[in-house]
Amino acid sequence: MQDFKNKTLFISGGTRGIGKEIVLDFASKGANVAFTYNSNSDIADEICKEVETKYGVKAKAYALNILEPNEYKDIFKLFDEDFSNGLDFFISNAIISGRAVVGGFGPFMRLKPKGLNNIYTATVDAFVVGAQEAAKRMEVNGGGSIITMSSTGNLVYTPNYAGHGTNKAAVEAMMRYAAAELGEKGIRVNAVSGGPIDTDALKAFPNYEEVKGEVVRRSPLSRMGVPSDITGACAFLCSDSASWLTGQTIVIDGGTTFQ
Ligand SMILES: NC(=O)c1ccc[n+]([C@@H]2O[C@H](COP(=O)([O-])OP(=O)(O)OC[C@H]3O[C@@H](n4cnc5c(N)ncnc54)[C@H](OP(=O)(O)O)[C@@H]3O)[C@@H](O)[C@H]2O)c1
Repeated sequence: MQDFKNKTLFISGGTRGIGKEIVLDFASKGANVAFTYNSNSDIADEICKEVETKYGVKAKAYALNILEPNEYKDIFKLFDEDFSNGLDFFISNAIISGRAVVGGFGPFMRLKPKGLNNIYTATVDAFVVGAQEAAKRMEVNGGGSIITMSSTGNLVYTPNYAGHGTNKAAVEAMMRYAAAELGEKGIRVNAVSGGPIDTDALKAFPNYEEVKGEVVRRSPLSRMGVPSDITGACAFLCSDSASWLTGQTIVIDGGTTFQ
């Protein structure tokens, strides 16, 4: 098991689904955790209390709207006041859903620029601004690991997912550019691409039951993915075991992409 004692993680969207599981996993390995929430401030407070009590680490939550990525700049100033040891790991994880994705989530003939642009802002712009702020802090610390969450919806056809799928492809390309330019600062940049994982984001799909059935049918492991299936790859990418791994995407899909 990795030992992240005296290390600090910053992750967007730590209140639910995959992000929450990563917060709990890194804290259990001794990392201090900073994470963002959008609407669930009560849940964010509970998570902070839980990991501080259970694992004796420091935890802080900050309000962020990834549709306004420049908010990262002020949030990182607050982070600097709270975490004097700097930053080691950054994970761009938060994703929008609901009204913000209208025109971006749906069949091809119903796609509209506004919805698509919102997903670009939340996926690519938010990764860029968050990773820039993170990289400034990591450089001072002698290096670090940056991860963007992606999904296999950019590799395999997933009904209604064109807006998200194309922007996950874009963020993976952006990740490779960041990796090429940040390596000289000792910063590695990678993506973790999940197949369908049982979270609120997936439950928002109108055809959730159909997607779930299809995943179980296609996976050689005959089950749906769960958030804890994703955390190991993130911990590995932040560990010394991944010291020469940069500019890559690790696909965790229960074998569904090839079927
Ligand atoms: N679920 C899947 O099938 C799957 C598969 C592959 C990859 N992924 C990727 O994994 C990541 C996490 O997905 P998930 O399924 O865990 O999502 P989720 O359960 O829907 O959680 C979304 C998180 O993002 C936050 N958020 C929502 N709207 C926001 C906004 N406007 N500004 C800032 N934060 C906002 C939420 O905060 P509040 O709780 O405060 O609202 C929450 O913490 C995403 O990048 C997603 O694309 C998911």
